[in-house]
Amino acid sequence: AQQWRGVIEEYRELLDIPEGTPAVTLREGGTPLVDSGWLSGLTGANVWLKVEGNNPTGSFKDRGMTTALSVAVHEGAKAVVCASTGNTSASMAAYAAKAGVKPLVLVPEGKIAAGKMAQAIMHGGQVIMVRGNFDDCLRMARELSEKYPVALVNSVNPYRLQGQKTASFELVDFLGDAPDYHFLPVGNAGNISAYWMGYTEYEKLGRSTKRPVMRGFQAAGSAPLVNGAPVENPETKATAIRIGNPASWDLAMNAKNESGGSFKAIEDEDILAAQRLLATKDGVFVEPASAIGVAGLLQAVEAGEDFTGKTIVITVTGHGLKDTATALEGFGPLVDVVVDADVDAAAAAAGLV
Ligand code: F0G
Repeated sequence: AQQWRGVIEEYRELLDIPEGTPAVTLREGGTPLVDSGWLSGLTGANVWLKVEGNNPTGSFKDRGMTTALSVAVHEGAKAVVCASTGNTSASMAAYAAKAGVKPLVLVPEGKIAAGKMAQAIMHGGQVIMVRGNFDDCLRMARELSEKYPVALVNSVNPYRLQGQKTASFELVDFLGDAPDYHFLPVGNAGNISAYWMGYTEYEKLGRSTKRPVMRGFQAAGSAPLVNGAPVENPETKATAIRIGNPASWDLAMNAKNESGGSFKAIEDEDILAAQRLLATKDGVFVEPASAIGVAGLLQAVEAGEDFTGKTIVITVTGHGLKDTATALEGFGPLVDVVVDADVDAAAAAAGLV
């Protein structure tokens, strides 16, 4: 038996990367599409979760990092840089370690989940905290790469979207056609742009008969694409998507318009409620930002939208273990029940007697 080879080798002929680029891979992609019995029951649709937390560093970023790092190294880079709300830096640091190049990370001070920070540091990242937000960090990363010998691997690097579009390919390969709807979070807007590119290319190749309606969701305090204007001081507990001026604005707008889709804003409390529901009803633990597509579907159903008989894919972008602090906030003290080391005391406390 052969194991999954990673997105470059699985889809190389469909990727626009320089010919013969050796793959720097941690065998990313090939993530599970898990049926949500809960959401399917609620909507009358077939609802699938694309669980991107199952990637090597726990988020979808690995799909684009294998391509960006492979090309950068092939072209002679000795150091790579990114701005990040956490997941990109975790992924970049891991792939840089694998490739033997130096990872340089710019993050907004105090706004990165602990798990992501631990990953960047463990993989040897030089982490620089910036007194500013993600948008400031991205501006700095761009300038660093222009002035110094360090390759930029944020999603403004076109090879990132080349890798990320493979998620669409996997979905269509599995489902046999594109879904009717695709729900997902939108931050810097690279991912929705990549999915749309993938769906469009597969349709042109005749591997699907249609493309889905793209539904993008942003946190209410960081919703530039919903507002139609950049947000100066973005705020949300879903720190992964705490972004005020998405770099792939035009591509994301195009995906929305061409697909007849929409961008909607979701309040933090609804994001966190959806995160808990997904964990308890489907057994899938995602980080807050990753639950926003689920929150969006719940709101659409509440508003009376009819999804009967449709196929819906929701991308859940990152693993819940990335940010345990935010997850536990809603539960008060970590340990609710303490008993003596006695079976009957435990049974009584658990309500078994
Ligand atoms: N979900 C998660 C878990 C993310 O980390 C991100 C982006 C998104 C969704 C949004 O994707 O930016 O392509 O629209 N995180 C970036 C980072 C910004 O630095 O890790 P997007």
